[in-house]
Amino acid sequence: MAISSTKDVPNTSATPEHVAIIMDGNGRWASQRFLPRTAGHAKGVQSVRRAVETCGNAGVRYLTLFAFSSENWRRPADEVSLLMRLFVQALEREVSRLQEQGVRLRVVGDLSPFEPKLQELILQAQESTAQNDALHLTIAANYGGRWDILQATRRMLAAHPELAAHPDQLDEQLLSNYLSMAWAPEPDLFIRTGGEQRISNFLIWQLAYTELFFTDCYWPDFGEAELRQAFDWYSTRERRFGRTSAQVYGSAKT
Ligand code: FPP
Repeated sequence: MAISSTKDVPNTSATPEHVAIIMDGNGRWASQRFLPRTAGHAKGVQSVRRAVETCGNAGVRYLTLFAFSSENWRRPADEVSLLMRLFVQALEREVSRLQEQGVRLRVVGDLSPFEPKLQELILQAQESTAQNDALHLTIAANYGGRWDILQATRRMLAAHPELAAHPDQLDEQLLSNYLSMAWAPEPDLFIRTGGEQRISNFLIWQLAYTELFFTDCYWPDFGEAELRQAFDWYSTRERRFGRTSAQVYGSAKT
């Protein structure tokens, strides 16, 4: 059962256990170079590879990447179809590398609008990496935090119809068991590249106590050094989870 940061004080260490990233700035990276936006996404795949490697080497256990939001369908049709092709290619080409690195891949989000071939590749990749445990890589695709809370509520009520008559029996822990990443701890460190400072409907429930790191660096330029810088910044944060500083350092009565 997942620990809830609003109820329990999780054990934390200098290295984040779970890193969640919004990979923003691909389009602007490309425009600066007079390239089509899609070239930025293609370049962004290399940064995904680097992030997986760096997290694995640094001892991060969970890496969650926001690859396609529920709102990204609003983009031009050719950009959406290029992104879908990139997912297909990445799944076809990268799974053997993930195997070598001991990476378990999962995809979360509403996958029903994706074409059957992509859905099939996702299932295959999830199954073939299911025994790996070195790094848990999650790709959020057609994902939205509000969608996640809604789907969790629907599934929970279907499993516990008695709750409708006894809503007082519903608690945070029960609902969070139905979120699409219920098996993972909440993110310790959230990173957004590309200069914007917002969460954009990413893991909105799970980010309640996460440290938020924003950088102007565009995602295609975000490499090992930039990721390590974010880890260094994280290691300086004092995570209080509602306690006082004195409590955190053990110099006050609890
Ligand atoms: C945001 O940049 C990025 C995306 C919507 C897509 C992210 C996709 C990738 C990095 C490639 C594929 C990933 C995998 C996991 C295979 P943006 O287009 O919003 O950039 P902008 O803000 O500069 O326009």
